[in-house]
Amino acid sequence: MNLSRMAVITLILGLLFPTSAYAEQPLHLEAKESYHQFPFFDTPTPVWSYDDQIPGPLIRGRVGTTMVIDFANRLKEPSSIHWHGLRIENAMDGVPGVTQEPVGPGKNFTYRLKLEDAGTFWYHPHFNSSEQLERGLKGVFIVEEAAKPPWSQDWVWLMDDWLLQKDGTIYSQFNTGRDLMHDGRWGNVPTINARFRPEFQVKPGERIRLRLINGANARIFSPHIEGLAASVIAVDGRPVTEIFPLERFVLSPGNRIDLDVRIPPQAGGSIFAVEDRFTRNAFPLATIKVAPSTPIDTPEVTPPTAADFIPAQMFAEVKVGKTWDLDAIRGGRFGIGWTMNRKLWPDADKAAYRLGEPQKVTFKNSSSRLHPMHIHGVFFRVLERNGKKAAEPFTRDTVLVGPRESVTIGFVPEHPGIWLTHCHIQEHAEAGMMTTIDVKHN
Ligand code: C2O
Ligand code: CU
Repeated sequence: MNLSRMAVITLILGLLFPTSAYAEQPLHLEAKESYHQFPFFDTPTPVWSYDDQIPGPLIRGRVGTTMVIDFANRLKEPSSIHWHGLRIENAMDGVPGVTQEPVGPGKNFTYRLKLEDAGTFWYHPHFNSSEQLERGLKGVFIVEEAAKPPWSQDWVWLMDDWLLQKDGTIYSQFNTGRDLMHDGRWGNVPTINARFRPEFQVKPGERIRLRLINGANARIFSPHIEGLAASVIAVDGRPVTEIFPLERFVLSPGNRIDLDVRIPPQAGGSIFAVEDRFTRNAFPLATIKVAPSTPIDTPEVTPPTAADFIPAQMFAEVKVGKTWDLDAIRGGRFGIGWTMNRKLWPDADKAAYRLGEPQKVTFKNSSSRLHPMHIHGVFFRVLERNGKKAAEPFTRDTVLVGPRESVTIGFVPEHPGIWLTHCHIQEHAEAGMMTTIDVKHN
């Protein structure tokens, strides 16, 4: 059969079976050098992008479907794409040297993602990550619920910060001693969707789903919306078991929250400030501007819920199987290494578990720095902080372990394979703070 006949048949099949065409929606992401215009400079800033977009294209899939994404690496160095938070087949997890070969310059790799969970996720490289993410390679991946809840708007805010020089270029020294002795590389220009202090328009009476993603290398955000009622309805891509108000929620690199934000019907003409309150010096992130119009009817929304699939009781009889001590040493590639049990990646102290057996892990921070610890391919529950019971009404895939703090988590390995576990401060991870959890069939 010649090619054009085949194309015609594929087209007809596509028309007859539109749902299967949707499920197999092929997508192409190309990593390449590009430019991004920040407002303060005359010339655009050289960046690395997916498809010339900063941030990368917003991917929307639907729960229960399979998405095929063809990745083309047009950078001058190897790369890969990791789908942060998605529970997918191990071979599609995008970790060079662990789940796949690095994708070399000029090479392609096809990712097939079976979307198990609806929620807010994101994607980024997992090679030379402290540089590749910082130069702009990252994007948001939304998995829609089977039936889309009727919020009046669905906003996606990818929070980031950039370390820009006076000439508008990205500061090109990575993994510096300064970064490594502290909490990684913190930028001087905070952005939302790569825009500096953007303004968002709403009508009075709206009810908005606001998805916040911390895509920064190292900066921690604690977003606050002055004057508006906002509730946390999902954390790290999973609905909470109990909705709670947004108050000093700590969003470390990798973390996401979904908020339910209500614009009061009488708020026409108001301006609400969104600011970061993590550090002592609060700074503005964005503004929400309400049109001076007549209010719309506020939509009735029941935020999606999920079963409490790993209740804390499940771990009552389980002993801590692994304690990872987090600390710095002299040595490694950059002179300062960040270790897990005194070991630097790839010479790591690994864990091995059997499928389906509940596990407890303790991250014990012996340093005075911050370590947002992330495990690929699972949702976990925080059980204890410093030996005291924690009662978070949600699961996570990334938890901030503060200075000298010890955090115990519980999870059930449900997907076989080798899953990376690391600090999501990119500079700490590059300097050695990574290991793996090997999940085997019984
Ligand atoms: Cu965003 Cu290895 O992770
Ligand atoms: Cu760290």
